[in-house]
Amino acid sequence: MDADAVRKTREHYNSHANVYSDRDQALNARRQGAALPLKDFHNDIKRRMILRFAGEAESLLDFACGRGGDIHKWARAKIRYVKGVDLSPGEIEEATRRFAEHVKQRNPRHQGPLLEAEFVDSDQLGLSLWKEPRQYDAVTCMFAIHYFFVTERALDNFLHNVAINLKDGGYFFGTFPSGKRVQDTIFKAKSWPQYKAPMLQLQALWKGQAAPFGCAYTCAIGDTVTQGKGSTEGSYEYLVFNSTLIGVAAKHGLEPIVDWGDPELDDCFDEVDAQKPIKHFHPRFPTESDPSLSQASALFAAFVFRKSGSQGGQKETAGAEASDRKRKRDDSQRAGTAQAPASHSNSTAQRDSVDWGKTEGSSALKEAAKAVSAYKRPKPREARTGAQEKG
Ligand SMILES: C[S@@+](CC[C@H](N)C(=O)[O-])C[C@H]1O[C@@H](n2cnc3c(N)ncnc32)[C@H](O)[C@@H]1O
Repeated sequence: MDADAVRKTREHYNSHANVYSDRDQALNARRQGAALPLKDFHNDIKRRMILRFAGEAESLLDFACGRGGDIHKWARAKIRYVKGVDLSPGEIEEATRRFAEHVKQRNPRHQGPLLEAEFVDSDQLGLSLWKEPRQYDAVTCMFAIHYFFVTERALDNFLHNVAINLKDGGYFFGTFPSGKRVQDTIFKAKSWPQYKAPMLQLQALWKGQAAPFGCAYTCAIGDTVTQGKGSTEGSYEYLVFNSTLIGVAAKHGLEPIVDWGDPELDDCFDEVDAQKPIKHFHPRFPTESDPSLSQASALFAAFVFRKSGSQGGQKETAGAEASDRKRKRDDSQRAGTAQAPASHSNSTAQRDSVDWGKTEGSSALKEAAKAVSAYKRPKPREARTGAQEKG
C-alpha cells in the first residue's frame, strides 16, 4: 500500500478525532450542522444493514471503524462482541473513550447479554496478513473500502483479511462512494478537474483514462469527517468500480447478495438497483437543504457479500500464512510499481459496463467468477475511456 496515501489518510482522520468532550456535545453539534439530513440517512442505512446482516450476532469485526460512531447501532442489534480496527490512532482513542461512556451510561438493569468491544489501530489491513484469533459472524467496512483501491495489491490483501476472519456463510457488508458517480460528477463540471458546490467538493487527481486502481481524488462533504482540515484538502480517496470490487471479492470466496430481504432497507436505495448487488443511496432530504447535499449522498453505494464455504473459507484460512509469505515476496519484487499496468487497468475498469442487474443468486457468483477470469486476462484493445463506462 502506498505509504504516502496511508500517511495522508491518517493525518486527515487524526485531525478530525477528539473534537467533542462527550456524547451530548457531539450530538448538539450534529443537530446544528448543515449535513444533518445526510448524517441521519447514512446512519439509518448502517443501522438497518447491521440489524439485517449481523442482528444478534456473537461477533463482528469492523475494519476502518473510525471513532466508534456505530457503537449504539451494534448495541441495538444485540451483538455480543465487536472488534474495531482503524488506521488513525486518534479515531481509535475516541472510539475507546466513547465505548467507555456507553458502558457507563447503559441501564444496569438491562436484561440479557451486553455489548463488549475493543478497538486497535493498525495500518496493516491493506499491507499484510491480519489474522484474528477467532473467526467472526460478520465483517463490516463502512465508508472506507475506497481507501484500499490505491493498488490492486492493497485491495487483494484487504479482502484476503476479510475472508480469513469471516465464518463460512457470514456476511461482509459496507458502503463506499461509487467511482462511476464520482467520475460523472467531475466530468460534467464546467470547472474540470474540480467540482465545487456548497456541500460537495471533488477534485480529480488522476490523469488520463480511469483505471480500476490508484485513481485518486479528494472529496469534501461539508460538515462531515471528509471536510478538509488543517493541511488536508478533504479526504484523499480512490475510485471504486463495481466490477472490480465484485471480481476481486469473488477470488476470496465472497459472493455478492442481490436480495437483501428487507423492504425498508430496499427503500433507502435506487429502485433500479433492486436486482443488483451494488445499490446506490436514494436520499430524500427536506427541500430546504442544499441540493448539493442530496447530490453528495447519492454518490454512495452499499454492498453485501456472503462467504461461501467451498471457495474462500477453509482454504483461505489454511493457506493464509503461506500466501502472506508469497505476498511479501511479490511485494518486494514489485517495489516501486505501485499501480497496475495501464492495459490491465483499463480492461478492468471497462468491466463496470457489465450489467450486474441481470445477476442473481448463484448466477451472480458465476458472473463474478467471469469477472475474475476477465480480470486476469485483460483485452486492452477493447478499452474505453472512463467517461463511457456504465456503473
Ligand atoms: C469516513 S471514515 C468511516 C468511519 C466508520 N467506518 C464510520 O462509518 O463511521 C473512514 C475511516 O477509514 C479509516 N481508514 C482509511 N484507510 C484505512 C486503512 N488503510 N486501514 C484502516 N483504516 C483506514 C480512516 O482512518 C477513517 O476512520
